[in-house]
Amino acid sequence: MNRFSISISIVLALSANTIFAKSTAPYLDDTLPIEQRVDDALSRMTTAEKIAIIHAQSKFGSPGVKRLGIPEVWTDDGPHGVRPEVLWDEWDQAGWTNDSCVAFPALTALAATWNPEMSRIYGVAVGEEARYRNKQMLLGPGINIYRTPLNGRNFEYMGEDPYLASKMVVPYIQGLQSNGVSACVKHYCLNNQEVNRHTTNVLIDDRTLYEIYLPAFKAAVQEGGAWAIMGAYNLYKDQHLCHNQYTLNDILKKEWGFDGVVVSDWGGTHDTDQAIANGLDMEFGSWTDGLANGASNAYDNYYLAQPYFQKIVNGEVGTDELDDKARRVLRLIMRTAMDRNRPWGSMLSPEHYDAARQIGNEGIVLLKNDGAVLPISGAPKRILVVGENAVKMMTVGGGSSSLKVQREVSPLDGLRASAPAGCQVDWVRGYVGDVGGEYNGVTTGQDLRESRSEQELVDEAVAEAKNADYVIFVGGLNKAAHQDCEDSDRAGLELPYAQDALIEALAKANPNLVVVNISGNAVAMPWVNKVPAIVQAWFLGSEAGNSIADVLYGAVNPSGKLPFTFPQRLSDVGAHSFGEKAYPGIPRNDGSNILDEEYTEGIYVGYRWADKQKLKPLFPFGHGLSYTTFAYGKITADKNEMGADDQITFTIPVTNTGSRPGSEIVQLYITDKKCSVDRPVKELKGFAKVSLAPGETKDVTITIGKDELSYFDAAAHQWVAEPGEFIAHAAASATDIKSSATFKLK
Ligand code: BGC
Repeated sequence: MNRFSISISIVLALSANTIFAKSTAPYLDDTLPIEQRVDDALSRMTTAEKIAIIHAQSKFGSPGVKRLGIPEVWTDDGPHGVRPEVLWDEWDQAGWTNDSCVAFPALTALAATWNPEMSRIYGVAVGEEARYRNKQMLLGPGINIYRTPLNGRNFEYMGEDPYLASKMVVPYIQGLQSNGVSACVKHYCLNNQEVNRHTTNVLIDDRTLYEIYLPAFKAAVQEGGAWAIMGAYNLYKDQHLCHNQYTLNDILKKEWGFDGVVVSDWGGTHDTDQAIANGLDMEFGSWTDGLANGASNAYDNYYLAQPYFQKIVNGEVGTDELDDKARRVLRLIMRTAMDRNRPWGSMLSPEHYDAARQIGNEGIVLLKNDGAVLPISGAPKRILVVGENAVKMMTVGGGSSSLKVQREVSPLDGLRASAPAGCQVDWVRGYVGDVGGEYNGVTTGQDLRESRSEQELVDEAVAEAKNADYVIFVGGLNKAAHQDCEDSDRAGLELPYAQDALIEALAKANPNLVVVNISGNAVAMPWVNKVPAIVQAWFLGSEAGNSIADVLYGAVNPSGKLPFTFPQRLSDVGAHSFGEKAYPGIPRNDGSNILDEEYTEGIYVGYRWADKQKLKPLFPFGHGLSYTTFAYGKITADKNEMGADDQITFTIPVTNTGSRPGSEIVQLYITDKKCSVDRPVKELKGFAKVSLAPGETKDVTITIGKDELSYFDAAAHQWVAEPGEFIAHAAASATDIKSSATFKLK
């Protein structure tokens, strides 16, 4: 090439660049700030195009702007893995062969790790799966507060405490969104039961709303930076929570400055005017034409579709709200699909299975271990596993979080795979629970039908239990209706399917009995004093059996703690102490289908109620044992008095006094000694998980500020920390306070 042709090609290259740059509209130029791109895109769109992007065009997708090359938005459930593809307008499977996923442990298990790092790992991994599947939004995580153990969806949430849920939700969102996949935090808010979920109007005072039910959502938005949030099905102040002036406009958007998208829950939109005015940005899953399950492909009839367009054309409403909604949706698209720098994601990787197993290992809670029955030791020759949940697949069912997994290791398979050398692991059924194995067309392929009687199954289990070195009962709840499942609540606190009688019989037959409870909810345990070892194992996803085996055989020292209280009985729960008006609500009898439900217990949810009523829980919030033991030294503070803008740091020395490495979750609770309003006996305001070698001591430090001392003054509508004396408690659980320190707020 001579000098002349070189300079010609430079000129050509430069002019091609200029031409290209000129033809690149600002909204396509990802070197520009997002707000500038959003403004530019919006200015190019017609009213019809704006209307189009704020409602669905399929079960889980909404259109982009075809003319402008702005991509569609694809959402999917969430929160425990990426749901398989469904047909365009049906809940049934699309029948794809490339949409199996890794199932991660349920969010209750994640919360039980009390380890924000696990939460980050979880968010990154599930986000990579969602990204690989080309989703812009994952419908999760869920953070509704555990108000009653009957709520069928507690397994999808993070427990009873607003502080714990806040700390655990933030890294999940950050990890997920680091993939360029939006979180959709749900179900905002006051969605604390499944029974009558579309028709319950919650009556609650402002203080309870702000202190108990909002903090995790606020943290998700302000600290996690969530790009989307999902409105709840039920009502507050007589407005559905998917279009609610108070919670969406006043609190979420004005008070908290949320700049993301409010997504309706599927079928949670009810009225065009309210949807326009009261903060909803994207409508999904609506019923149409008054038909029970919707006419096919009737997306044009959605409340925010033609009916909205007509109102604009008729001059009944202006376009300010529309511009705001469209702007939010465009912002979402710029943050996800139109972010050219977002990673590519990955699916079904060994790293994702490892993450699932690690989270499961850290989330399992050792509730009881008398006589150190666990970990299994002493070269056993035969272990008998009893119970349906030892073999039943748990990733299928339970509602929208149901998954199609590439694989799921059952407890029995896990226990067999890593059994001690020379040990035979046998299984008998013991009881019949749910023999179903299908959800929206995904089938487990398991045939769990049983022809023997209940008594025959018990007799067989007892006879076999007598000839085993260990008996491991694996039972609990499952993902069928009225268990841990969307759209219905449990009938009671008791274990179903006559498991109590079976456990009693097994306890008589063999002293080395371990009960493994699989559930996302507390269950009653009338046999608690007859069983030496009890393990809370949650729904652990793809690696369930391996995580359980790791803990039972001692490869992993358990370190999880309960994210909610196990009450002795249902009447020990605040929500169940005031009759039907507090749960499940009272029908209005005014011709509407609305029920009113008063959160009469107020701020006294979970351990706050147990403390106030001086009730001894079956197992308290924050409880969990280890195969080693820990000794707590005296808690000290770096000062005795703190100013309003100050912080105070507490130091708690913890020593591993046993012979195995282990981790302890140190909890910090605060008591306000005297206050002008009634306050809980104590509230969780800090925690830290510390790993210790045998004999090792570490100082755990926890710092708090004024926020951790404040209550919500409803009249003044602000958080208030009243000067005076406070007590900081170092504790191993809500009922195991190790030492306390008094300090003053000036
Ligand atoms: C659930 C949501 C879910 C949506 C889409 C609704 O029934 O309440 O949590 O994300 O369906 O499947």
